[in-house]
Amino acid sequence: MQRLIIKGQNTLSGSIKVSGSKNASLPILAATILSEDALIKNIPLVKDIFTMVELLNFIGLRCEFSKNKKSVKVLNKNNRINTVAPYKLVKTMRAGILVLGPLLAKYKKAKISLPGGCAIGTRPVDLHLMVLKKLGAKIKINNGYIYATANEGLKGNKFKFPKISVGATENAILAACFAKGTTILSNCAIEPEIIDLINFLKKAGNKISIKNRVIKIIGIKKFKKISYEVMFDRIELGTYLIASALVGKKIKFSGVNTEIVSNEIKVLKNMGVKISCDKNNIIIRKSNKIKKVNIKTAPYPGFPTDLQAQIMVLMTKGNGISKITENIFENRFMHVPELKRMGAKISINNSTAIIEGPTTLSGAEVMATDLRASVCLVLAGLAAENKTTINRIYHLDRGYFDLEKKLRLCRAKIKRI
Ligand code: EPZ
Repeated sequence: MQRLIIKGQNTLSGSIKVSGSKNASLPILAATILSEDALIKNIPLVKDIFTMVELLNFIGLRCEFSKNKKSVKVLNKNNRINTVAPYKLVKTMRAGILVLGPLLAKYKKAKISLPGGCAIGTRPVDLHLMVLKKLGAKIKINNGYIYATANEGLKGNKFKFPKISVGATENAILAACFAKGTTILSNCAIEPEIIDLINFLKKAGNKISIKNRVIKIIGIKKFKKISYEVMFDRIELGTYLIASALVGKKIKFSGVNTEIVSNEIKVLKNMGVKISCDKNNIIIRKSNKIKKVNIKTAPYPGFPTDLQAQIMVLMTKGNGISKITENIFENRFMHVPELKRMGAKISINNSTAIIEGPTTLSGAEVMATDLRASVCLVLAGLAAENKTTINRIYHLDRGYFDLEKKLRLCRAKIKRI
């Protein structure tokens, strides 16, 4: 099994190129089921993307990466489509559930493995099923699979999500593209990745409008041939911004849309981090003193749960007690015991972690438990004294492209063995 070895407290400087967004690419790839010919550019070459491509190939689409691997061409001209997402693919990547809406909308049936729970929480799919039923799907669950049919085709309807869900909003939008008539979804998630999916769908000829948390979709019958460039990965950017705040001297990020991460920038500025930015570039400089802060994770535009573990590492450097409340997932503090092994002073009270700073972290052997928990240990290792060894790093490869290479280019001492 591979591990990462980090020699900490090395000052970083240089520039970091942010990859395309994993969480925008996944629903856009699922959307290619509805299309016949799509070219998706700026895909990050991470494990979850390869799993989604494997799933699309299993279904019967033809996905081909370009020679430089920077884009993937997806052709769906096969009449023999297998409307199944098997357990072996969905169990390693929950986003497999996103093929349910498009398969049902286009082929009127789908059999999808139930994703099950995962390290960060139970993560049910009831909202996905609720909205598809409202669009006319008949759904049964048997032997760990969702069996969905819509013999007459899906029909547009109104649906208000009882709780905000990124995945359920995406599945509903994808299903509604081919539903007869108009669908109006309210209390939707409006994460930038959803806006990116909508931009992709609109470019393919779909009629979609969005106002506040209400999304209106008028069903169509066919997609136009499309070429689309996926947005940058705002969580990867946020992760490296926090790394820079911890150990950066001067690090530059270009080719991003700073407005999308304005809340994260505001939080970092409140913590005393020196950041300057314009529309597409960010420069972050060494900060001498980090201030304590209180944060609550929330659906966009709130602070993202996917950066909760990383910002916690920065809080260990704060001058006093910082608090972070996790409002999205019920079990997303798996990194806390590992950070404590590195000397962090953290206690948990229900969904709130209380972090006492400033602490000098010390290198240790630690274990990664999920994607963001893993990367938070990398950040802790970069900031810690001496050597940190991170085990089970396959989680990292699900979502961070070229992590060690990007950090090494900024002079981090990090290697994979
Ligand atoms: C997406 O997951 C992201 N994944 C997650 O990123 C991210 O943490 C999450 O949104 C929240 O921002 C992808 O985009 C591929 P949700 P998703 O449905 O869609 C509950 C990462 O690290 N819920 O918005 O699965 C659920 O249990 C990953 O890159 C239901 O109760 O998240 C959670 O408490 C991890 N019933 C809350 O809603 C449902 O049917 C929000 O989940 C669906 C969700």
